[in-house]
Amino acid sequence: MDFKRNIIITGGAGFIGSHVVRLFVNKYPAYRIINVDSLTYAGNLANLTDIEQAPNYVFEKADICDFERILSIYTQYNVDGVIHLAAESHVDRSIKDPFTFAQTNVMGTLSMLQAAKAHWNGEYTDKLFYHISTDEVYGTLEFDGTFFTEETSYDPHSPYSASKASSDHFVRAFHDTFGMPIIVTNCSNNYGPYQFPEKLIPLFINNIRHGKSLPVYGAGENVRDWLYVVDHARAIDVIFHQGKVADTYNIGGFNEWKNIDLIKVIIKTVDRLLGKEEGASLGLITYVTDRAGHDLRYAIDSTKLKNELGWEPSLQFEEGIEKTVAWYLDNQAWMDNVTSGGYQEYYEKMYK
Ligand code: NAD
Ligand code: TYD
Repeated sequence: MDFKRNIIITGGAGFIGSHVVRLFVNKYPAYRIINVDSLTYAGNLANLTDIEQAPNYVFEKADICDFERILSIYTQYNVDGVIHLAAESHVDRSIKDPFTFAQTNVMGTLSMLQAAKAHWNGEYTDKLFYHISTDEVYGTLEFDGTFFTEETSYDPHSPYSASKASSDHFVRAFHDTFGMPIIVTNCSNNYGPYQFPEKLIPLFINNIRHGKSLPVYGAGENVRDWLYVVDHARAIDVIFHQGKVADTYNIGGFNEWKNIDLIKVIIKTVDRLLGKEEGASLGLITYVTDRAGHDLRYAIDSTKLKNELGWEPSLQFEEGIEKTVAWYLDNQAWMDNVTSGGYQEYYEKMYK
């Protein structure tokens, strides 16, 4: 079958990538979606069982750092579009193991770019390399009502955000130097189904369920801007199709929460859905040593995306968090699978 487009989505077995793959496979039957993922601890094909048999879906287990392999995938499928999400994504891991972050996020992105350049060979009509980045590259804000805009200078503080900033620079350099059509987007914290339970929201839902303590870093005063993952996938769809080449778009929910306030909402929602008295699990909150270099506040201004391309979040936070908690409680088998066995040992060593 001839496909209208052949699009690589890297990191499609991860949290956000799986939602992007699902959206594209279902919405665009005329596109072939090639999920390129090396299946690290964060990659899980169980996130995609509902679409894995679709005729327009292919999975290629490959490391983005393996240039020859990536180039052969571009050639085999005659790829004309890339949505690049594969990355090491957890700040705490980047503090313990920055080399892996530089390798995957910087060298892996460079390998994806260099292979696209080789495959497209200067013929860039109707091609696009779309790179998914984070608001964390902008650094940190005070409690002063300001926001990160597309003009905010980069000021990364963690090895994770430094590696993402570096990869963003490489992507823009491939436009400026070689004329490659690129787009970069910087999104705020995502939440929703299929997120690996090392990140705040799924970790805490799982711990509450098991009556385990909830480690709040520092005083719990840090602020994050939370966006439902399906709304991020919707934004990626709109930008992939209508975004301006060489441009940057910020994606966010205008939904800032102080960690401790968010944690209390999670506790009350889990308690209620488990049929307990709301707040019964508040005693699980345990204040622990702060994360090194912990950014105080992230807040994204996504006005440009709204004004230029008409995208807005579709879900109110109250609805999103209710759906998310319900999903994790209903999908305990998924959770047990990713937190059990050999992995658990690694996990406990990381967080002891
Ligand atoms: P994730 O950790 O859940 O998934 C990452 C995926 O990439 C996994 O499937 C993993 O197997 C794959 N991967 C890792 N290294 C690879 C390699 N060398 N080769 C091939 N595949 C590899 O991450 P996520 O939270 O879904 O984030 C996806 C992207 O979105 C990342 O680029 C991240 O920086 C960005 N982002 C995340 C958030 C968030 O809140 N999670 C917010 C903004 C931006
Ligand atoms: P996280 O989900 O790791 O995302 P990020 O660090 O990329 O924003 O953490 C969200 C916030 O929650 C962040 O301020 C760190 C804090 N946090 C805790 O207080 N305890 C935890 O166990 C974790 C994982 C995070």
